Amino acid sequence: MPKNKFKVFATCHIGDAAENRLRERGCVLEVYPGPEAPPKSLILEKAGSGIDGLITTLRDPIDAEVFEAGKGTLKVVSQIAVGFDNINRADANRYKIPFTNTPEVLNDATAEFAFLMMGTLSRRMWDSEKLVREQKWGAWHPFLPFLGDEITGKTIAIIGTGRIGLAMIKKCLGFDMNVLCYDPVYQNKKFVADVQLLMDMRHRLGMVKENTWIKYVPLEEALSQSDYISLHVPLVREGDAPTYHLINERTLKLMRKEAYLINAARGPVVDENALAKALREHWIAGAALDVYAKEPLPADSPLLDPEIQDRCRLFHHFASAGRITRLSIDPDKGMAGRCIQGLLDVLEGNYGGDTAKMPYVVNKEVGHRTGEYGEGI
Ligand code: GLV
Repeated sequence: MPKNKFKVFATCHIGDAAENRLRERGCVLEVYPGPEAPPKSLILEKAGSGIDGLITTLRDPIDAEVFEAGKGTLKVVSQIAVGFDNINRADANRYKIPFTNTPEVLNDATAEFAFLMMGTLSRRMWDSEKLVREQKWGAWHPFLPFLGDEITGKTIAIIGTGRIGLAMIKKCLGFDMNVLCYDPVYQNKKFVADVQLLMDMRHRLGMVKENTWIKYVPLEEALSQSDYISLHVPLVREGDAPTYHLINERTLKLMRKEAYLINAARGPVVDENALAKALREHWIAGAALDVYAKEPLPADSPLLDPEIQDRCRLFHHFASAGRITRLSIDPDKGMAGRCIQGLLDVLEGNYGGDTAKMPYVVNKEVGHRTGEYGEGI
């Protein structure tokens, strides 16, 4: 047992293996039993109790109040999630607290889920299963009681070409889809050119009848020319390229009547009232959502309107929830592994104590070395 003891509070369980690993590495770990989020008052109480590390997730508001409570002792916030819109980066920097997240390891799980939601929606799998379960399947028929839409060979808009957007493009490649890319800040032209080479090669080898294509286009073109629109942008509320309510009445009206919207990014990217209206009034064909403005989805959400349930698939923020992706303690495979490694890098002063060199630290600009904690403000 290492002699340095670090006090760590986790706002949720992150799996037995990861928790045991932290204990083996000399952490005295307390875990909020959950599964619901602890009240903010408890996070403040724990932050003020002399903890060195705080493990959080996307439902925990981490801001100046928390950093002030932890002033002088709190050394790191380690988030088990790739998104960190719940953590106030400016506040973390003012208090000189590095925070970490868990990117990369969930790219495929999340993209795979987005793709599968798209299939479930478009091929009406939920309606089909309901028919069988409710004993309403009358007879095999060429087109009754309903048909779905094939995905193969269609055009998809990938809104946001960061890590998960690129993973989604790779899934779409196997389904011979054309791809329209849009990203407000990041354009991976090399990746897009490489995918086009693969598309051309598949056509040359006779694997696809018609050649497929991929290109960057403006948002309006992506929305108006696609059969599927899949969102992969982070939630950005302010600044030059906000994504809050990127999908609203105006942008929904740009979509084709036959088009489907897929959201496995962040709920507030979509104006839910506008989306419910678009589904009710058939401006678009359907939507599959894994994330919401408020989670869990409130009972009075317009998205739960029975009138639109045949064209609105709803999931419980579940896209990255593959067993290995969530629980593996290998930082190259699992979010739990990446979460504890990020925490330990800071607490143990790995990388010469230079937080700018630590791979899972998000706010690399926080600019301090291990041992200089908490004297911000
Ligand atoms: C899930 O939504 C995540 O940000 O990891």
